[in-house]
Amino acid sequence: MEIIVTHTNTDFDALASLILAAKLYPDAQLVLPGSCEQNVRNFLAEYPHSFNLKKSKHIKLETVTKLILVDTRQSSRIGKFETLADGQIPIYIYDHHPVQEGDIKGELMEIKELGATVSIILEKIKEQNITISPIEATIAALGIYEDTGSLTFSTTTTADISAIEYLISCGANLPVIARLLEKELTVDQLFILNDLISSQKVYQIDQTNIVIAKVVIDKYVGDLAVLAHKIMNMESLEVLFCIIGMAGRVQLIARSHTNKVDVAEILSLIGGGGHKTAASATIRELSLEAVEQKLLEILHLKLIPTKETTPPPIQLYPHNIKHLMGKNLPQPIQDILKLLGEIGDGLKMNVYVVGGIVRDLLLGKPTFDLDIVVEGNGIEFARELSQRIAGSYKSHERFKTATVVFPDGLKIDIATARKEVYDHPAALPRVTTGGIYDDILRRDFTINALAIQLNPTYFGNLIDFVGGEKDLKEGLIEILHDKSFIDDPTRIFRAIRFTSRGNFKLSDNTKNLIIKSATKDLFLQLAKQRLRNELILILNDDNPDSAFLQLQELNILKYIHPLLQIGENQSLLFKKITHTLFYLELIIEHKPIDKWLIYLLGLIDGLSKEEASEFMHHLKFTKLQQKTVITDKEESQLLIDYLKRYRDPSPAAIYNRLTGIPLEVLVFIMAKVDAFENKEIASCIKKQIVFFLTELSKVKLSISGDDLKKLGIEPGPVYKEIFDKVLSAKLNGKLKTKEDELEHAKCHVEQITHGI
Ligand code: CTP
Repeated sequence: MEIIVTHTNTDFDALASLILAAKLYPDAQLVLPGSCEQNVRNFLAEYPHSFNLKKSKHIKLETVTKLILVDTRQSSRIGKFETLADGQIPIYIYDHHPVQEGDIKGELMEIKELGATVSIILEKIKEQNITISPIEATIAALGIYEDTGSLTFSTTTTADISAIEYLISCGANLPVIARLLEKELTVDQLFILNDLISSQKVYQIDQTNIVIAKVVIDKYVGDLAVLAHKIMNMESLEVLFCIIGMAGRVQLIARSHTNKVDVAEILSLIGGGGHKTAASATIRELSLEAVEQKLLEILHLKLIPTKETTPPPIQLYPHNIKHLMGKNLPQPIQDILKLLGEIGDGLKMNVYVVGGIVRDLLLGKPTFDLDIVVEGNGIEFARELSQRIAGSYKSHERFKTATVVFPDGLKIDIATARKEVYDHPAALPRVTTGGIYDDILRRDFTINALAIQLNPTYFGNLIDFVGGEKDLKEGLIEILHDKSFIDDPTRIFRAIRFTSRGNFKLSDNTKNLIIKSATKDLFLQLAKQRLRNELILILNDDNPDSAFLQLQELNILKYIHPLLQIGENQSLLFKKITHTLFYLELIIEHKPIDKWLIYLLGLIDGLSKEEASEFMHHLKFTKLQQKTVITDKEESQLLIDYLKRYRDPSPAAIYNRLTGIPLEVLVFIMAKVDAFENKEIASCIKKQIVFFLTELSKVKLSISGDDLKKLGIEPGPVYKEIFDKVLSAKLNGKLKTKEDELEHAKCHVEQITHGI
């Protein structure tokens, strides 16, 4: 009998290679030599009888006449078939892994360093004109997408890309692929992920940020590379090393998104290997600390540049930035900008896109908030635009501005280039029309005073009257004129908010002006609602903790409210909130969450209920906001007390206590216990919340009211009672199938009827 075998811990590339190899060897038996990765198991459960796969225990070694290996040639990875690798029977190999010591030699060796083994086998299938079915195409594409990180890993080749093209033409089902590629993390992985995130340390070595995260776990947990991948992508890191101590060994997983760091080369010095962008090592003889030390030594050695390798300075932003717009803005936004330019020409008005979007475009992190300024009449422009796109517009005569709403809901603000005159400090400005130059000069910082012209002949011209481009490169927040903070004190908060985004600092001039301008009188003239809005913007932006520390250092915090103070506890709590939010994004996707609310709970954590109420009232938070925050503050404390008291509650008890609690409160609790409770209590409470969020909250009953009716139960309040009972039993793991649920419902009804 001929058999086709792949590696243990079978992933999609391995499974797909097996299935496609069967097209080349139709008489061969497909064999899984050991366990499969979770998502492969999910796939096989979804298509249970589609492939004739056998487990290794069903194959007698003495009956095998030919061994075909796919996606591996390592004898240690093929389970019991290792004994067939001694060359007694013919061996054929299809594999994409680089050469390794101890590789099995075959009579036929199709070895190519493509992104996935499937791509090698598919080339053969195409050569022989063999057709493949949509389900085969789907699994093959899954293999390629998984092994190439959806064609983004640097190991991807053009052969992988044409393979995908071909598979799609054969009917590969992209929605199924997208769903199956999303790996759900196991509870063990979730906790390791949390610990890795909170242990991150950033080392700056030769201007490269290198993050090292480490964790010790008390048992073996598999498939940890996925955690490194998640952290890398979520935090947009350049280089990450995860050091994991477990079961008598240290596992080192490395990822790099920069050419400056070749992680395979680095790990080869510590006994590991892999690709430039992804590598790993298992080290048995050193402690976790020793591995970290050695790694840092290697990094210092490898990354200190010699003079010859220093690259020449490059000019970041040319005067016309059409190409940058083409590269970084989504096509629909580009189309809109072109249309605006054409309308401008038609109406004989110069038209510009200004402010934050220009800044962020030059920084390479586009936002799509379109602020448009026209020299002429913004309202007339808005009217014309809304006609062209069959949308609508709303004008504000006093400010000569309008908002245009597109049929798909997109909104853009159109302003008439204007001068602003402030009648007294902190007042709203009086407006007169002007040119783009006037409009630029009324803005807050040089980096926000950039514009791009959109009229077709000048499309993409960067207008920079104030050196904004240079300040952007140097990371400086520079005010445009000395009275700017007096005209508009909210700019003080904006300046600090920008610096807390990480890449900016206040110029000396701006810092001095803030210190000089920030007086009690100035803030007394500022409407409390505006102050509150700025506070919310800071809480919603990156790193609110560093913004608040700056506000305190500059002596401004007291003007928001005299009770506010950022001490060590507050700082620690903010840090933990940041970690928890990041962690949460990884474990539950796309849940809307009010980030500012969580940080606000952190900010007022040291205040009593009365003080907190007074604080919110003073800053004119809406009645609803005041009620929400105070309730959440109280609820979080009650819940912490509860979770501390009941250390080992049943799943149903956790479900009942946590259902209906806002996500913001749950996040705040996780952060707060992490900051202030001992490690054991914190871990126990966090586990319960994560268990609730990732599993319990998703449990749904299979039975419905109709099922109860069929059991002859009269509809009424008893239904809720029955559902609650059945759900509790299901949460506690007692019911698996719909029949179990019906049985349990019946029992409960009998208990009621017999008055038990
Ligand atoms: N602006 C200003 N003074 C303010 C607020 C805004 O001069 N107090 C100007 C800036 O030129 C800014 C533009 O108006 O770029 C748009 O403001 P806004 O959309 O609030 O801010 P962005 O700069 O886009 O910043 P963010 O990234 O926070 O949205």
